[in-house]
Amino acid sequence: MIFALCLLAPAAFAQQAADAVAPEAATGLAPEAPAPVTAQDWMVAAANPLAAEAGARVLREGGSAADAMVAVQAVLGLVEPQSSGLGGGAFLVWYDAATGALTTLDGRETAPMAATPTLFQVDGEPMGFFDAVVGGLSVGTPGTPLLMEEAHRRWGRANWGGLFDEAISLAEDGFAVSPRLATLIADDAERLSSSEATAAYFLPGGTPLAEGATLVNAAYAETLRAFARDGSDAFYSGPVAEGIVATIRGAAQPGVLTLDDLAAYDVVERPAVCAPYRGAEICGMGPPSSGALTVGQILALIEPYDIAALGPDDPQAWRLIGDASRLAFADRGRYMADSDFVPMPRLLDPGYLAERAALLAGDDALPEVTAGTPPWDHAALELADDTSLELPSTSHISIVDSAGNALSMTTTIENGFGSRLLAPGGFLLNNELTDFSFRTHSDGVPIANRVEPGKRPRSSMSPTIVMRDGAPVMVVGSPGGSRIIGYVAKTIVAHLDWGMDVQQAIALPHLVNRFGTYDLEEGTAAAALAEPLAALGYETNIRGLTSGLHAIAIAADGLTGGADPRREGVAIGE
Ligand code: GLY
Repeated sequence: MIFALCLLAPAAFAQQAADAVAPEAATGLAPEAPAPVTAQDWMVAAANPLAAEAGARVLREGGSAADAMVAVQAVLGLVEPQSSGLGGGAFLVWYDAATGALTTLDGRETAPMAATPTLFQVDGEPMGFFDAVVGGLSVGTPGTPLLMEEAHRRWGRANWGGLFDEAISLAEDGFAVSPRLATLIADDAERLSSSEATAAYFLPGGTPLAEGATLVNAAYAETLRAFARDGSDAFYSGPVAEGIVATIRGAAQPGVLTLDDLAAYDVVERPAVCAPYRGAEICGMGPPSSGALTVGQILALIEPYDIAALGPDDPQAWRLIGDASRLAFADRGRYMADSDFVPMPRLLDPGYLAERAALLAGDDALPEVTAGTPPWDHAALELADDTSLELPSTSHISIVDSAGNALSMTTTIENGFGSRLLAPGGFLLNNELTDFSFRTHSDGVPIANRVEPGKRPRSSMSPTIVMRDGAPVMVVGSPGGSRIIGYVAKTIVAHLDWGMDVQQAIALPHLVNRFGTYDLEEGTAAAALAEPLAALGYETNIRGLTSGLHAIAIAADGLTGGADPRREGVAIGE
């Protein structure tokens, strides 16, 4: 099922925007961005040049986007271990050129069957966030290995075993620690010291690995060899699985994950969630991700307004985007969770969105924002707002192959370096369970995103494929915790409304509003909007906003790709 949403806008206006010739990219807020990468046949954009190169090699040799993703993910787990890897989870959106079908795969981590709703409470009170993160308690059953295998099984063209060659060589021969990895290790040294194995790898002799140091990971090479030979069985059972469980059970703060949890893990195919915007369909991952629903709500709420005419330098454009985001985040906090466990209202219902969009008709910031009352079949069910914390981490992969297939995958171990537990198989274990609400109820009313056995924690990951006339025109996604949603929505608006190429759209300074405070990207022209936005009634906060957007635009005359200048990623195409 695809959630179809009729144009709620004054159709004439929306159509006009859709048909309009894209305006010249504005100056002002728009930074000088390098020219985007262009290509005719295929393209891959990922967070590290070694990982993107591994994917490019596969695509050059005629592999599919799914094959390339396997190679990219295997290398990312080595060279960007703080963000994603075999010990984590991921969501994948796939456009199949042969059938025109859009499929999403949910490789999210699950709560162990022994997890209880009070997993992150002590004496009835929520634990401190990092007290919960570090150690075994926060580790969910990883989904990424089975997702890689499942994507290859469905859409792969290359030999499975060969997709790990680069990652195995790099793990055995060593790779140079990147500047970003070195900085993050140094910044996190205290937490990384909490586990002996983790400290030995990242802080050899007690000293954080320096930029350029050669890092070898023989254990990871061995795990990949087994994965290449025996598939995901080599991960979910046998020595690798036993090593995972022993690490979790033996941690200073032990967790409850078992071999049975690992053996029972499954990837779930779910309907793509699509919302129309400017004549396109913005398609992505539904629950347990809040990504596509929240991005879709934001765009639906601003569609009746002339964002293109306002342009990126007008505070009124950001008032509309910011308050649309606040309204969408209010619904997210109240209603969005794993829909296999919690009934969800129709959050993209056209009539409901039209009512919410009308709230934006004024000139000033909304004084107060609460969750709405979308239509649903469980109106008697009362839910309380979730206030759980999500911190930036994660990685995004965008790929288009020579057959025209498109892949958008956001992949994570949650917090930077996850639970800080390095499994004997040479990969970090996630702390994804801290994406659940630590509280089960608020004033006696249940919270949708509470911990339950077998449930998947709510995510903000927003792997997106923008479709027009049944074909993909843009592949995009980002890391960044719950700010992912704002980063992705902004990049789509910058490309579709403001006519920026994907590299400019990515580089455009971030202005992100989730819960009322307007975050403005430090060191950019966005800071100049602090005063006008304050005059509209917002509290503003100038701060670093480190997205990791990777996007590919697909047009009749070829592919155009961009990578986020805020991180180390690249786009490669031919
Ligand atoms: N842990 C990041 C997310 O799933 O949104």
